[in-house]
Amino acid sequence: MDEVLRTAPLKETAPLKELDDWDDFVATLYQQGKSEEQFRNYRTDANPTVTEFYRQNHAQQTLDFVLKKKAEYCGLRRGKKSIWEMAEYLNTLVDESDPDTDLSQIEHLLQTSEAIRKEGHPRWFILAGFVHDLGKVLCLYGEPQWAVVGDTFPVGCAYSAQVVFPEFFAANPDANVLEYQGKYGIYEPHCGLDKVHLSFGHDEYIYQVARNYLPEEGLYMLRYHSFYAAHRHGAYRHLMNEHDEEMFAWVRKFNPYDLYSKGREHPDTQAILPFYQDLVSEFFPDQIDW
Ligand SMILES: [Fe+2]
Ligand SMILES: [Fe+2]
Repeated sequence: MDEVLRTAPLKETAPLKELDDWDDFVATLYQQGKSEEQFRNYRTDANPTVTEFYRQNHAQQTLDFVLKKKAEYCGLRRGKKSIWEMAEYLNTLVDESDPDTDLSQIEHLLQTSEAIRKEGHPRWFILAGFVHDLGKVLCLYGEPQWAVVGDTFPVGCAYSAQVVFPEFFAANPDANVLEYQGKYGIYEPHCGLDKVHLSFGHDEYIYQVARNYLPEEGLYMLRYHSFYAAHRHGAYRHLMNEHDEEMFAWVRKFNPYDLYSKGREHPDTQAILPFYQDLVSEFFPDQIDW
């Protein structure tokens, strides 16, 4: 009885066994060498929990919801913490499935940043890799999975068929609001993505946290790394301006490190830690607003 009470509400908001199941799904989706036709068969790559996750995400990310969450989190009123304290906090998001083979959240971040570092990219680029998923702490704030991860998409205008599982948008209340369903919806042509509200998640939150500290190229990586319809499929260009187009070259440069750097091997955290301590304090003050 107890067990039922404890797991039932969880399933409603947490269909994924682990938050990283979504990241793994996307990595499978965009496996190197896949043809467009193979890609379009994504429904067969999605297990029932991933499919359920997208069903919830697409049905509940309304313009109203996004504005509410931005008002709640983007003012950064949850107190001051260092990047390291937040990384430690994110690490408490432990996967139950197999603690021996699974990597911790910090290890995932280090794999991404180490892959970037190995290819000789600038220090801010490495740092963007290291912090890019820290926004997943939203999950620890009590947000449901569908408000933390998932490919992002603009709300307040027509949904693109380039977003995976577009059929699930039919259940979104915004689908019945005429004003939100025009090609441009509430936006002006080429108004620029800064004026466009994307579905809420970990990208927007870490962007807000880092916006005063990283160069703009890095901020685009943080803010749009899950906007696959745009950076992978070229959708929503009618909302982007020329500056977005230029900056998206960096988002695309970042994406492979996010997707393909995941290995099973635990990085030698102790050995590389001094490098990251230097790097973090080069760009961030010790305490920042979250
Ligand atoms: Fe991410
Ligand atoms: Fe990531």
